[in-house]
Amino acid sequence: MEFSIKTVVPEKQRCACLLVGVFEKKHMSEAAGALDAAADSAITRLLKSGDMEGKVGETLVLHQLPGVTATRVILVGCGKAEGLTPREYGKVLEAAFAAAVKTPAGDLVSTLGEVTVTGGDFAWKARETAVHAQAAGYRFDETKSKKTPRKNTLKKVIVAAGADDDTTAGAAALAEGAAVAEGVELARHLGDLPANICTPSHLAGEARKLARKHRALTVEVLTEKEMEGLGMGALLSVTRGSHEPARFIVMNYRGGPQRRKPTVLVGKGVTFDTGGISIKPAQAMDEMKFDMCGAASVFGAIKALATLDAAVNVVGLVPATENVPSGTATKPGDVVTSMSGQTIEVLNTDAEGRLILCDALTYAERYKPAAVVDVATLTGACIVALGAQASGLLGNHQSLVDRLLEAGTRANDPAWQLPLWDEYKESLKSNFADMANIGGREAGTITAAGFLSNFTEKYHWAHLDIAGTAWKTGKAKGATGRPVALLVEFLLHQQDT
Ligand code: BES
Ligand code: MN
Ligand code: ZN
Repeated sequence: MEFSIKTVVPEKQRCACLLVGVFEKKHMSEAAGALDAAADSAITRLLKSGDMEGKVGETLVLHQLPGVTATRVILVGCGKAEGLTPREYGKVLEAAFAAAVKTPAGDLVSTLGEVTVTGGDFAWKARETAVHAQAAGYRFDETKSKKTPRKNTLKKVIVAAGADDDTTAGAAALAEGAAVAEGVELARHLGDLPANICTPSHLAGEARKLARKHRALTVEVLTEKEMEGLGMGALLSVTRGSHEPARFIVMNYRGGPQRRKPTVLVGKGVTFDTGGISIKPAQAMDEMKFDMCGAASVFGAIKALATLDAAVNVVGLVPATENVPSGTATKPGDVVTSMSGQTIEVLNTDAEGRLILCDALTYAERYKPAAVVDVATLTGACIVALGAQASGLLGNHQSLVDRLLEAGTRANDPAWQLPLWDEYKESLKSNFADMANIGGREAGTITAAGFLSNFTEKYHWAHLDIAGTAWKTGKAKGATGRPVALLVEFLLHQQDT
């Protein structure tokens, strides 16, 4: 998709699709007012008739408005005329582009940059526009025999600028938004691929593919033998039951000064989680193909940064494995030795995410990182606590957590902090090893993070539990690409402030 910024005269703009805002109580945006004047009060009449109330999320497609050059106009409900929250603005764009891609329009001009957003300037609105425009066109048909004919042909998006808008900052923001969108798209695609295609080796191949496209990115893939040499007994205990070989993927992006310490991202890459010997119930088990969405978000974030030639140093670590039962699988009660030397009693083989992450977190030490952030679909308890709105966030360094929270807010990809107090770790005590891999029934997201905290004492660390946010269930089942936008915002703008 191609993005640009232009000043426009709404009624005279030639384009296949024009987005204009209308507010509650029949208030019109400047652009809607201009169209209304040109179209002999057609929009005034329409608002009077009650066909459109102006609520956030509403859209109405109008064809051949008299006096207006655009082929079609989409009226977009923008809520209260006084201004929107950034979250509401995201919903406005989501609805607007969902409507736009249902039309055959190939090019589009959005005047929604003129809508007031508290804490969102023109550049911010431009970036959000790029992210939503591209996301609306996402389709997954790789595994359908008949590819869905693409009605959506939207290729060109222009964001209309007002006289006072900073178009230089706007253009940079558009580029950033487009790169974030590419990263989100990759994360969604990898998430949506079924587990018989998206294996650990497939993920390794994707990493190599990325490295071929970007000079600042190098990739190394460790085999099980090499993991054994490193003593990654926790990670290897998860892959024991599977015929599919595990992979430890290292992506090293060096866009910043040589000597600057990297930020390390760690993504859980369980390509399918049956639970292992502690097997899961059959209900919705197919969704455990999404158990590599943490890994997918690391791929997406690194792709976005590389596309932007961002001046940052980032290492992506992806422990990738299946978790399946068999005669060789790890059994409840088995004790394994992690790369850190600490022993773990595997009381439940379904708590496998923390077992692969802990060895990756120990591996991260070799980079002397500025910070480590892991991303994982780690606990069902996180869905109970926060639902699909916010990712769970915990960490051992409050300023790092604060910067991630801020990045999530700025990127409309929110996270919410949970406490990581020592008291919660009591439940991880084991009679037979240094720790058990599960706590009790209570506070499952926190005890999981507490487990990980035993492996992160040497650096600043934060953990994102994306079990509730990484994919949607039900009719709209599919990966969301979260938290790519949060991660990119953090790495570009919130690293050392
Ligand atoms: N991948 C799951 C977590 C999960 C479950 C994410 C459902 C999204 C939806 C993870 O490996 C897991 O099985 N966690 C267990 C931990 C428990 C055994 C302590 C869980 O949450 O039930
Ligand atoms: Mn599990
Ligand atoms: Zn899992």
